[in-house]
Amino acid sequence: MVELLEARAVSVDYGRVRAVHELDLVVPAGPAGVALIGESGSGKTTIARALMRLQPVASGTVSLEGVDITTLSGGRLLAYRRAVQIVFQDGDAALDPRIRVGGAVVEALRAHGIGTRSERPAAAAALLAEVGLEDDLMHRYPHQLSGGQRQRVIIARALAVAPRLLVLDEPTSALDVTVQARILDLIERLREERALSYLLISHNLAVVDRLCEQAVVLYRGRVVEQGPTRAVLDAPAHPYTQELRASVPELGVPPRVRPLRATAPEPTPGGCPYAARCPLAFDRCLAERPVLRPLDAGRAVACHRA
Ligand SMILES: Nc1ncnc2c1ncn2[C@@H]1O[C@H](COP(=O)(O)OP(=O)(O)OP(=O)(O)O)[C@@H](O)[C@H]1O
Ligand code: SF4
Ligand SMILES: [Mg+2]
Repeated sequence: MVELLEARAVSVDYGRVRAVHELDLVVPAGPAGVALIGESGSGKTTIARALMRLQPVASGTVSLEGVDITTLSGGRLLAYRRAVQIVFQDGDAALDPRIRVGGAVVEALRAHGIGTRSERPAAAAALLAEVGLEDDLMHRYPHQLSGGQRQRVIIARALAVAPRLLVLDEPTSALDVTVQARILDLIERLREERALSYLLISHNLAVVDRLCEQAVVLYRGRVVEQGPTRAVLDAPAHPYTQELRASVPELGVPPRVRPLRATAPEPTPGGCPYAARCPLAFDRCLAERPVLRPLDAGRAVACHRA
């Protein structure tokens, strides 16, 4: 079976610093949700940007439905950028303050040659209605909307081009809890109605638990554990996943934003990148880097102890 999106051995560098190491990631055809979890600085946004071709890939391949996209240019790159849409955390920065929200969606349709000039306003209104925004909001400027409304506009604009894959980079972390919950309801509804596939970046394990069937745990730019979300969260195999999990004793509680420890992708010459923090570290952990290996049903873990 050809997966929707497949990253193989993808590494991403900022100058001489490697921020992502040999990432393997698969997003199946929709409806499907894959989560990327990991503390601040672990490389989540970098991965999102690399998948979107907003950040060059140092090595490895990314393919959409079996077609390598890392070397696309011109019209084929534009088509790819249409197929994969991203929603960033900060809705304020993503919208042009001088363009009314209806106009922002119309512009997305125009940029991708969807519909005719006369059809686009109605199409934009339908998209805004789909994400739960009233008609009269069409004519407002972004600063005349709430944060939650702005985030809906951004989701509507992403949906305008009927994407195959949506990349959601902490889409609700700037919003208060009740507004977050409504945006999550929206994502859940769209997932079924549009058979959407999405890659959801979140610090929030309750959100991941609810919206994603697969979870990928990152630590300093490396996947340390991945597999079915239930298995990863209920019985985490990697000591780092255990640490993340332990900091959220009650899953299912309303989402909250947790201050996670920040890390930098420091060069780890050999050995396990987590060794300095790991309660289970032993001699071998300092000498030999654990590779990701299969553990149980669909799960893989990179730890000498697992
Ligand atoms: N433009 C850049 N130039 C150099 N280093 C960068 C750049 N962007 C990110 N980095 C570094 O790459 C690492 C990964 O950053 P990234 O933004 O991907 O983390 P993240 O997991 O999205 O974190 P957060 O949860 O805080 O959003 C960090 O150490 C960061 O400092
Ligand atoms: S390999 Fe060793 S240091 Fe790394 S997570 Fe496993 S036990 Fe801890
Ligand atoms: Mg980020």
